[in-house]
Amino acid sequence: MKRTIILLAALSLLVISCQKEVIKPGPSLGASFNGAFLVGAALNDAAISGKDAGANKIVTSQFNTITNENLLKWEVVHPEPDSFNFEPADAYVAFGEANGMVIIGHTLTWHHQTPNWVFEGEDGGLTDRETLIARMENHISTVVGRYKGRINGWDVVNEALNEDGSLRDSKWRQIIGDDYIDLAFKFAQAADPGAELYYNDYNMFREAKALGAVALINHLKAEGLRVDAVGMQGHWGPDFPQINDAENSIQIFKNAELTVVVTELDINMLPRPENMQGADIELNYENTIKFNPYAEGLPDSMQTVLTDRYAEFFSLFKKYGDTVDRVTFWGVYDGSSWLDNWPIVGRTNYPLLFDRQYNPKPAYHAVIKVGEVGK
Ligand code: G3I
Repeated sequence: MKRTIILLAALSLLVISCQKEVIKPGPSLGASFNGAFLVGAALNDAAISGKDAGANKIVTSQFNTITNENLLKWEVVHPEPDSFNFEPADAYVAFGEANGMVIIGHTLTWHHQTPNWVFEGEDGGLTDRETLIARMENHISTVVGRYKGRINGWDVVNEALNEDGSLRDSKWRQIIGDDYIDLAFKFAQAADPGAELYYNDYNMFREAKALGAVALINHLKAEGLRVDAVGMQGHWGPDFPQINDAENSIQIFKNAELTVVVTELDINMLPRPENMQGADIELNYENTIKFNPYAEGLPDSMQTVLTDRYAEFFSLFKKYGDTVDRVTFWGVYDGSSWLDNWPIVGRTNYPLLFDRQYNPKPAYHAVIKVGEVGK
């Protein structure tokens, strides 16, 4: 009896291992750029829980790093002074660990999505410097501390620069002063000395902004603080940035001996009211047919534009593989992109590599091809 069972078990193992040989894994973005940089995506709750099974499957089969799209933003994780909401973030980190992903935390200090109470004093006006510093330290040490050794890198400060490279006059700066950025990095470093720390911003292809980031990071380093990489968000379009401008900025960072992480890549294929660029979430416009022209599908000519754009950007990232450490898409597939709702709510956009049915688009195959060149 025992012998028969052992024989059967051996036979079934043989069948399974034969099957494994027959079923070859499909291409994977992470594997294609293995040795150059990590490739990842920003996740929402549905992708993490598996409620969005299609998204979940893409993530586990294509990417080797993840970023949370919203669930670690201050208003979500720390909505009230004495109350933290860790459930979604716990699930996010557990998902990343279960799948062997490099896990990124986004974001600790931002002028958006931060509840009003953070900046308010007892009289309803702005609070004072010492109180805000104490609130920041409590937030960063609690959130980073909870995931110490588990979240591998943090966007410590997000979007602190104006387009000309000067410091944005956010409430953080108005109340604390310019050194709020120094303090954020100091608190993050103390809470998890092993985590990578990033400065992250959009429109970094603009030279003035890239130079502003270099000046800021050099200042932080001169203060004895650690900044492991500069985040170029990469909310781009079919006609911007010029590839030369993107390369120029990467070169500026390389010359400054900075590592680059492309943190929020997508290509907005819809008309932009007033030709706006970037990711200023305060902008909002009305939905009209003029601004939602591809509700029934993306024309072939535009599909080709998207494909070529992705191919040229990934060729650029690969060329700078010694400087670029990670490329993360801002979303998993077109149906879950923030660009369906910004700067106009309810449009049909096509910014990512997977379509609304979770199928890889021509741009996906073009990117994989770039990864495979020279292998
Ligand atoms: O979860 C609530 C839901 O309960 C509510 O019914 C609904 C009604 O408005 O809102 C939902 O929250 C929205 C959330 O996205 C989740 O969908 C917020 O209103 C909305 O403001 C939020 O937008 C996010 C935006 O940042 C602001 O935090 C986008 O998803 C997210 O993609 C976007 O990401 C930013 C990066 O953090 C920083 N760089 C720019 C990038 C794009 O704006």
